[in-house]
Amino acid sequence: MVLGSGFQHALTLLDVAVEIPYGQLPGFMSVGVSGHAGKLVLGHFGKVPVLVLKGRTHFYEGHEMDRITFPIRVLAEFGIRSLLLTNAAGGINRKYKAGDFMLLEDHINLMGTNPLRGPAHLGLPRFVDLTRVYDLKVNEILKKAAKQTKLRLHAGVYLATLGPSYETPAEIRAFGRLGADAVGMSTVPEAIVARQCGLSVAAISCITNLAAGLGSGQLSHSEVLAIAEQKKGAVAQFLKSFCELYAKS
Ligand code: HPA
Repeated sequence: MVLGSGFQHALTLLDVAVEIPYGQLPGFMSVGVSGHAGKLVLGHFGKVPVLVLKGRTHFYEGHEMDRITFPIRVLAEFGIRSLLLTNAAGGINRKYKAGDFMLLEDHINLMGTNPLRGPAHLGLPRFVDLTRVYDLKVNEILKKAAKQTKLRLHAGVYLATLGPSYETPAEIRAFGRLGADAVGMSTVPEAIVARQCGLSVAAISCITNLAAGLGSGQLSHSEVLAIAEQKKGAVAQFLKSFCELYAKS
């Protein structure tokens, strides 16, 4: 799993075996966003072995797409079969409240580029089918885990922007009309690369704020981190429960 903003403190129930800072892993980049740890963690949720990328690099930091998606290709080469991506997002759907969660049923890529742009990858498809990016079976397990742990989990469409500025209220109105339920600045590159590598993919957003123009105040990264901090206990339970249900399935 990849832990983004909103999920950095979600490992309290993980029995950690090994932690390796990204700086010690060839090709991995140190993480530049406050609130992101930047290390690979190996451990167990109960009896279930889990590999966690704690913190990610973002396209808005100025790196090329192939650099920010490199860890996904490495893990795919090492033989992982399933990937859970997490992120913080602004809620566009009027039913969403700060502190809710959303599993991704689909996405809209408005980052202005595609992580598969560039030379073809030998042995992998050039034109990747994205009809079903997010795995239906894994989504059902996520819903079950949310029920077990009483997490308010919606299901919707995530729209990815380049960032790093937050959106204008006019953009949020437009994104809502395009069919987006939440907006963020990550996840889509990793999801597309993971699908090219044949991994099953699921993704969860922590709705840390109402998107621009829908709430009362201004948006800030510290507000995003504060909501995430409040939710860490619930998220830890949820991830553990998900892993146990996933291993049984
Ligand atoms: N917009 C974009 N990215 C975000 C937001 C938002 O409102 N909240 C957390 N990440």
